[in-house]
Amino acid sequence: MSSKQFNPKIALVGSGQIGGMLALLAGLKKLSNNIVLLDVIDGVPQGKALDTAQAFACEGLTCKTCGSADLSASSEGLKDADVVIVTAGFPRKPGMSRDELLLKNASVIGNVGLAVKSQCPGAFVVCITNPLDAMVAKLQETSGLPAKRVVGMAGILDTSRFRTFLGEALGVSPRDVHSMVLGGHGDAMVPLVECTSIAGIPLQKLIETNVISQSKVDEIVQRTRLGGGEIVDLLKTGSAFIAPASSALQMVESYLRDEKRLLPCCAQMQGEYGFKNLYGGVPVIIGKEGVEKIVQIPFSKNSTEEFNASMKKCQDLMAELKRIESEAQKN
Ligand code: APR
Repeated sequence: MSSKQFNPKIALVGSGQIGGMLALLAGLKKLSNNIVLLDVIDGVPQGKALDTAQAFACEGLTCKTCGSADLSASSEGLKDADVVIVTAGFPRKPGMSRDELLLKNASVIGNVGLAVKSQCPGAFVVCITNPLDAMVAKLQETSGLPAKRVVGMAGILDTSRFRTFLGEALGVSPRDVHSMVLGGHGDAMVPLVECTSIAGIPLQKLIETNVISQSKVDEIVQRTRLGGGEIVDLLKTGSAFIAPASSALQMVESYLRDEKRLLPCCAQMQGEYGFKNLYGGVPVIIGKEGVEKIVQIPFSKNSTEEFNASMKKCQDLMAELKRIESEAQKN
């Protein structure tokens, strides 16, 4: 890592709901003094950058914040970015099929990947755009960056939801609830009850001693799996944007500060958990090299089956994307 990591340039590709929150939180967390917002809609990144810069003035922070609709612009674009966080893409519109959305977002991500390749091949790249597992794979493929520097954010968000619900049920701060939600970022994700502890006390022990019932824990597991949808239903327009931004910055902070945190992230497995060349949610250590290690947990039989089923869904999604891309090429 170069010395400029002391003042890294953070580029945010996509200046929508999550992009704007990322800019604000990255500044407040003092992760960078140089934040660039980018978006395909001219005016939006510039407007958000201006608004954020004024918030930083209020907060007494010195942080250069600019926006551009041109990914290849010199200082206002991706050029020489140290960290890139990608939220670019479109939500599903009424009448649009799932395949159409997959194809549309894959095309956006493909273009972002090519821009990363030419403008900032040394960057650490975090993808947030959904469908996450397929989009991060596309970003790695098109950018050509080593997989250890292209990761997806999902597990930290899903785990934060699990921790919040458990903390509420137990009357304990979520800060003292430790856990991991692994697998693909979909309804088949795997909240690992067996790896959950409250300030070191295994959750399993609390179930055995009736501090919390098994049925309550099962209910929380299910609520976690549907946690994104719960927020979409409440908001009516748009999806969660505060916790997703906060979660992605945990990964960025661990990278920039070489913290070597052990976090659930979407990373490319190379034989770990029995999968090769496949992105999915696994426990990883993030440090100055990016993904420095994928940690293998000896799962119970039940968790192994759930994890494998979730990864099968990721494989199917990847296969579906390849199929619709080759069909679109023929037409
Ligand atoms: N380059 C740059 N920005 C783009 C491009 C592109 N090629 N295509 C679309 N965008 C921009 C849109 O103009 C929009 O401003 O991406 C932004 C996405 O922002 P929002 O629609 O507000 O979505 P947000 O809530 O931020 O979520 C972004 O993260 O969690 C996922 O499912 C979510 O895929 C979605 C993504």
